[in-house]
Amino acid sequence: MKLLVKFNIIYILVMALGVGVSGWISRSMLREQAREEVIAGGRLLMEQALAVRAYTAGQITKLLAEQMKEKFLPQSVPSYSANEVLDTVRAKHPEYGYKEATLNPTNPRDRAVGWEVDIVNAFRNNAEMKEFVGQRDTPTGPSLYVSRPIRITNPACLQCHSSVEVAPKTLVDKYGSANGFGWQLNEVIGAQIVSVPMATPLQRADQAFGYFVASLVGVFLVVGVVLNLMIWWVVVRPVTQLSALADRVSQGDLEAPDFALGGRDEIGVLAESFTRMRTSVTQAMKMLES
Ligand code: HEC
Repeated sequence: MKLLVKFNIIYILVMALGVGVSGWISRSMLREQAREEVIAGGRLLMEQALAVRAYTAGQITKLLAEQMKEKFLPQSVPSYSANEVLDTVRAKHPEYGYKEATLNPTNPRDRAVGWEVDIVNAFRNNAEMKEFVGQRDTPTGPSLYVSRPIRITNPACLQCHSSVEVAPKTLVDKYGSANGFGWQLNEVIGAQIVSVPMATPLQRADQAFGYFVASLVGVFLVVGVVLNLMIWWVVVRPVTQLSALADRVSQGDLEAPDFALGGRDEIGVLAESFTRMRTSVTQAMKMLES
C-alpha cells in the first residue's frame, strides 16, 4: 500500500473519531443548554403568574369587596387574574401554556386532565417536592413543563373553597355548587403548570451543532490537504527519485546523475549514504575490471 494511502486511511479514521466524539459531546451540551434556557423561560412565566396572583390578592380583592356583596366579580380572584393575564400573553404566543390544573376546580376550565392529574398526585404524595420539570410531545413538537404545587396554606382561601354553605352566595350563584368545594387546609389541590415549547430552541441548538461539525470537518480537510502535500513534497517525491536513481545504478547505468537532493533532513542523509555507496560500488567494479 502506498505511503499516502496508509497515511490517509489513518488520518480519516482519527478525524472521524475526533468529529464523532466532540460532536457527541457538543450536541448533548447544546441540547442541555437549550433545555436550561427553556426551563428558565418557564420559571419566569411562573413568577409572572405568581406576581399577578399576589397583586390581585394584595390590592384588587379588597377594592372589590363592596361590589362583591351584590355580584360576584371574578376579577377579585387571584387565580382568575393570573389566567387572564397569561391568556393575553398566549394570544401572541400560543405555543406557551399556563394552567392552574386542579382536581376539583371552581371553574371547569381549570380541571386537571390526563398527565396533569399525574403531576398533581405526585405533589400530593410527596410534600418535599417543590417543583417538577418534565417533557412531553405535543402536536407542535416537544414541550417542557415546569410545575409547582398549589397548597392551601391560607385559611382565608377556605372562605370560598370549603363548602357551599360557607361560600359567598354570589359565588355559588355564578359557579354552581358542584365544584371547587371541600378543599382542606394544607392540602395540595392542584398544580401550576407552565408549558414552554422546545422546538425552536432545539432547532437553534441543532443548527449551532451543524455549524460546529461543518467547521470542524472543514478544518480537518484543510489540515489533511496540507499534510498530504507536505508528505508528498518532503517524503514521497525525494524517495521516489532516490529509488528511480537506485534502480538505474543497480542496472549498471553509470551515466545516472548524482543523488544530490540537498537538505539536511533524514532523506538528505539517506541520499548522501546512497552517493557514498555508489562511489564505493563503482570503485569496486573498476578494481574488478582492471
Ligand atoms: C372570594 C372567593 C375566593 C377566595 C377567597 C379564594 N378563591 Fe380561589 N377561586 C375562586 C373562584 C371564583 C375561582 C374561579 C375563578 C375563575 O373563574 O377562573 C377560584 C379559582 C381558584 C383556583 C383555580 C382552580 C379553580 O378552582 O378553578 C385556585 C388554584 C384557587 N382558586 C386557589 C385559591 C387559593 C390558594 C386561595 C387562598 C389564597 C383562594 N383560591 C381564595 C374564589 C375564591
